[in-house]
Amino acid sequence: MTDTHPTSESIINDFASYVSPSKVAAYRQMGIDVVPGRREGVRVWDLDGERSWIDCRSAGGVFNLGHRPPRIIATLQQALDHLDIGDHILISQYRAALAKRLAELTPGDITYTVFGVGGGEAADVAIKLTRGYSGKAGITCVVGAYHGHTGLALAATDGFSGKFGPLAPGFRRVPFGNIEALAEAIDDDTAAVIVETIPATAGMLIPPPDYFPRVRQLCDETDVLLIIDEVQAGLGRTGRLWAIDEYEVVPDIMFLGKGMSAAIYPISATCYRPKLQAFFDADPFIHISTYGGADLGCVTCLAMLDQITEPGFLTHVQKMGQRFTGGLAALQKKHPGIISEVRQRGLMIGLDMANDMCGPLMVRAMGQHGVISVYAHLRPSTLQIMPPLIIKPEEVDEVLDALDVSLGEVAQSLGLS
Ligand SMILES: Cc1ncc(COP(=O)(O)O)c(C=O)c1O
Repeated sequence: MTDTHPTSESIINDFASYVSPSKVAAYRQMGIDVVPGRREGVRVWDLDGERSWIDCRSAGGVFNLGHRPPRIIATLQQALDHLDIGDHILISQYRAALAKRLAELTPGDITYTVFGVGGGEAADVAIKLTRGYSGKAGITCVVGAYHGHTGLALAATDGFSGKFGPLAPGFRRVPFGNIEALAEAIDDDTAAVIVETIPATAGMLIPPPDYFPRVRQLCDETDVLLIIDEVQAGLGRTGRLWAIDEYEVVPDIMFLGKGMSAAIYPISATCYRPKLQAFFDADPFIHISTYGGADLGCVTCLAMLDQITEPGFLTHVQKMGQRFTGGLAALQKKHPGIISEVRQRGLMIGLDMANDMCGPLMVRAMGQHGVISVYAHLRPSTLQIMPPLIIKPEEVDEVLDALDVSLGEVAQSLGLS
């Protein structure tokens, strides 16, 4: 029987007993052993409703529209009166409508979409598509990349795969932002280059301004396909619809996840240019995903796209980004011993600090001061700040206040002040 009035303690005990004792131990160590209860807008409350936090993690972009976005919920509730997930093998009015909308919104002549459930699946589709289309096997990815935990995505991801070998062969790693290293790694068997526009797990890296245009040029010259991962950076996060728009580069394939769900219905997409459609000519059923592009997910995602393409939405993201820029510059002056660099595009922010102890300690301190945040998995000196895009000016100020106090405490505890 399900306990209808569980306490935080009993839930944490059940989680430790039936989901993961080691995760519970880790949450305790980081000071985030709380059970989320009510959630709304930028905030999450604990089960007892006594404490609340501003969510500056947004699950990497899932909560772009905040928690329980009202318009999306209303759309899904209406859809539930007449829809289900649909049969993935048949034609779908909703998959057609969403794919058409994505074709209108994605860069250049990107036209077709294969739907999935999560970002890793979308990465797998992208890699399969390039290998199938080109007949080549080589995939060049970047050091510190994160594309997910499915088979091919994992082979292109750093830091999570050490114990699962052998991984899919054919993957070669080069440093992000280094065009010479990329040029050297490409050979006659290279099918594709895969790269996040802003590698988040690597520490919110921002490349030199000419990096992506040169990657595009190199791919064109060597007949290699360019796959761009916009799972975190896409859908308005940077103040542009797509982070890659900053560089005026059209990828051959762009894949999306997280924010597509509007935190309500999981869905992901691998969008590609027309020439790649040839891959599916011989067998249109060569890739299948039962829940990928479920009708209910498509309806949810269309409502999300309506919201983020409304006049003023991206301007709001830019303004909130600028408010952070100003606030963080002031904090850098106030806490020079601990902040070493701010890497930012819109509301995708990496606060680089003096050493690797800073990230975990900041996560703990920020939690105590009412903000959920995480540090970059492969660069613990970087605190990731990714609030929901609907964050208001006074909420930005709350986050900046929490950062101020937390930076002071952590700097003092590490002797950095
Ligand atoms: C940049 C990037 N790509 C791909 C993925 C994989 O997405 P998923 O966890 O939905 O498989 C993630 C997830 O964090 C991501 O951040």
